[in-house]
Amino acid sequence: MRLKSLALVLASLAVSGCAQAAPPAVAMAPDTASEQGRAYAAQTCARCHGIGPGDDSRNAGAPRFVVIAGRYNEISLEDRLGQISKIGHYEMPPQQLGTEQIRNLTAYIQSLSQP
Ligand code: HEC
Repeated sequence: MRLKSLALVLASLAVSGCAQAAPPAVAMAPDTASEQGRAYAAQTCARCHGIGPGDDSRNAGAPRFVVIAGRYNEISLEDRLGQISKIGHYEMPPQQLGTEQIRNLTAYIQSLSQP
């Protein structure tokens, strides 16, 4: 069961073309939406954004996810990620974020804004 879900994660990463740098986070087959969002962000967003609460952004122009969490509520963040999925953003090409990835990323980013 766990192996199967790991295979799914790896397959979806390969499809999105972001399998170059497989960090250990993926091997842990995270369970909650927020954890899955964090793992996905580590793969695809972390090369520009600081994704953890204490992480600096590698791309100085990219806001840290903690800052993004303060700018949007859950609904507007989902909308924004939907746009990013279709039209890309800044230097980033469109990302083909699926509904589930958008939900997971939203859950993760929103979790950063909790006190
Ligand atoms: C190639 C670099 C790069 C990558 C990769 C990247 N971003 Fe960004 N992102 C940026 C930059 C630069 C900005 C901010 C530009 C600005 O606010 O002027 C930004 C802004 C954002 C914003 C705020 C948009 C707004 O209108 O306030 C969100 C949300 C976001 N990124 C989400 C993501 C997510 C989710 C991922 C991973 C799936 C990701 N980004 C990957 C460079 C990147």
